[in-house]
Formats: sequence, structure tokens, C-alpha cells
Amino acid sequence: MRIAVLASGNGSNLQALIDRLHLDADAPVEIAVVVSDRKACYALERARAAGIPTATVRVQDHVNRDAFDAAVEAVLREHGVELIVLAGFMRVFQPSLVRRYRHRIVNIHPALLPSFPGTHGIRDAFEYGVRVTGVTVHFVDEGVDTGPIIGQVAVSIESDDTEDTLAERIHAAEHQLLPEVVRALAEGRVCVDGRRVRIAPPT
Ligand code: GRF
Repeated sequence: MRIAVLASGNGSNLQALIDRLHLDADAPVEIAVVVSDRKACYALERARAAGIPTATVRVQDHVNRDAFDAAVEAVLREHGVELIVLAGFMRVFQPSLVRRYRHRIVNIHPALLPSFPGTHGIRDAFEYGVRVTGVTVHFVDEGVDTGPIIGQVAVSIESDDTEDTLAERIHAAEHQLLPEVVRALAEGRVCVDGRRVRIAPPT
């Protein structure tokens, strides 16, 4: 399956996808393109280092959000992309693009949705004082962090955790979960029934 990874920053989840899927000849996943909304971000460097095509599409270069979405979509079409993986992509698409790619856009979120949606999932969970948080991979729908949940992993918050030590364990959990979910999607093992999503075991 040809996938696009969209990222705005560090790209550690992109790296996990490169290492665990793109470079694994047995995995049915090829990262066809990495798209960023920022010219200089480390995710693009990681892609280039792996020989993966890159594209930058910036909001400020377009007259409105529909034009921005259209430019992203043009890149996806050019590269024959079948699945879009949002891995730290700090932009929200307009509902029309989301509808065209129903169940073909996934996002990784650093908390156990529906708790702590939004930009600061790790900090919000830490400051709230929950004892268990985690990571979620979900389909993207017209809302923010509201789509059907595909996979989740719990991460405990210990008494001596700081936001930074928690963040390290959250990211480690993300780097496991995201490639697993993308592999399951590529292998056709994900079945969606309304909000409920089932993953069949590998054959
Ligand atoms: C991750 O924590 C992800 O859950 C959130 O943004 C962060 C991206 O990290 N959506 P990276 O760029 O993959 O290192």
C-alpha cells in the first residue's frame, strides 16, 4: 500500500514507520511521499535520508484553506497515495477532503481519546492528574480527534514522573502502535462498523 506521511515537526513517528515498515521488504507498505506544512522541519530531513520523496505545502502560500487542501491533495494524487498518516501534522483539513478520504486518513494522538484531545494531550493528562494515559490511533473525521478509534495503548503515570519522563514513554508507545495499525490497514485486517473498529489477527 502506498502511504503518505504528513508531519510538521520532529518526525519520530515517521522514523518508526520508515524503520518498521518502509525498510522492511516483507511489510506491504511503501511511504510514497512525506508532506510537511513547514519548509524546515526534521521530518523532511528524515525522509530525505531514507530516499523518500518530500513535498512542502504551506498554508500561507494559499488563498484559503480549501486551496491549501487542494494543493495537498494534488501531491497525494501525484504519488498514488492510498492511505494518509498524520504523524504530528499540525493542520486540520476541511470536511470536504475528509469526506473524500473517509477511513483513509489516520492520526496519532498522545492520549487516550476521548480524554485530552487537542494540541497538548500529554501535558493536559499530566496536569489533570490521571494515573493512566496513553496513545490513540484513530480515523480522521470532520471533528478534531473525534474519529473512530483503531488502536490504543495505555501508559501509567508514576508519582515521580515529570511531563518529560512521561512524554518519553508516550512516544515509545506511539512508535510501537502506529506501525502496527498501519500494517493492519495495509494487510486489509481493519474492519469498520460505525464507530467500532475491529482488527483481525495476522494470518
Ligand atoms: C506525537 O506525540 C503525536 O502523537 C502528536 O504529535 C507528536 C509528533 O511527534 N500528534 P513526532 O513529530 O512524530 O516526533
